[in-house]
Amino acid sequence: MTDQTAEHYHRVAASYDDLWTYDPDYVRQFSRAMIDELRLIPSDAIADVGCGTGLYTRQLCEDLRPTRPILCVDPTPAMLDRLPAAPGLRPLLAGAEDLASGHVGLPDAGPLDAVIMKESIHHVADRGGVLAGLASMLSRHGRILVVMLPTSIQHPLFQAAHDRFEALQPDPDEVVDLLDAAGLRASVSYRTFHTAIERERYVHMLESRYMSVLHEFSESELAAGIDQFRRAYRDPVLRFDDHFAFVKGWVRPG
Ligand SMILES: C[S@@+](CC[C@H](N)C(=O)[O-])C[C@H]1O[C@@H](n2cnc3c(N)ncnc32)[C@H](O)[C@@H]1O
Repeated sequence: MTDQTAEHYHRVAASYDDLWTYDPDYVRQFSRAMIDELRLIPSDAIADVGCGTGLYTRQLCEDLRPTRPILCVDPTPAMLDRLPAAPGLRPLLAGAEDLASGHVGLPDAGPLDAVIMKESIHHVADRGGVLAGLASMLSRHGRILVVMLPTSIQHPLFQAAHDRFEALQPDPDEVVDLLDAAGLRASVSYRTFHTAIERERYVHMLESRYMSVLHEFSESELAAGIDQFRRAYRDPVLRFDDHFAFVKGWVRPG
């Protein structure tokens, strides 16, 4: 993780859940989508790598009621500190690289049945190495789900933020290739979540740099971007479609 990313999540941790919970149903729909895409069952040994505050892991735990705690892995102490103390959630302060390379071991003996990486893969530099390492930790019926934004998004960002996002965001098809190279049966599907946010709330989200890409801008560039946003979006409620790639890799029957 770069210093800039570490700094971003350290700053945003306290308000992260508030910034990202457009509405409670969004989180519920997302949790159901992940359970569905991975065909999770309660007896699965699950790790959520880059779980952040556990905003989605908590919901998933409530929905699935797993028989073993979900391993909640994140390298940012301030984010992981927000994970509620609950028997179904086990925190592990580590980056995906630490886990995948074996520098940090799994607290329980035995392989993982399911690994989730939701909106954290773009922070990993050696994506091929990490995905191969995680794939090697899977059981016979193991699978990995990488949830990520596509390279172009419909969030009502200002133009420079869109441009920067497009330059930085990895392509989901590359992740498909990396999972395939790791020996998994890889595929991608897309899901759309309809989103509505009050305009002033969105201004607050921009000011709080709710997406890590917004940390690419100085105070004055951000202020200029927010002015541009105010001129471009006048409705009191902003509606847009949030498209996500669900990239999956399944252990091949052997
Ligand atoms: C956009 S947040 C997503 C959090 C959570 N998965 C969610 O959807 O709410 C990205 C998270 O990735 C974590 N992260 C950054 N670098 C990472 C790495 N190398 N390995 C694993 N997680 C990382 C950050 O600390 C942050 O909590």
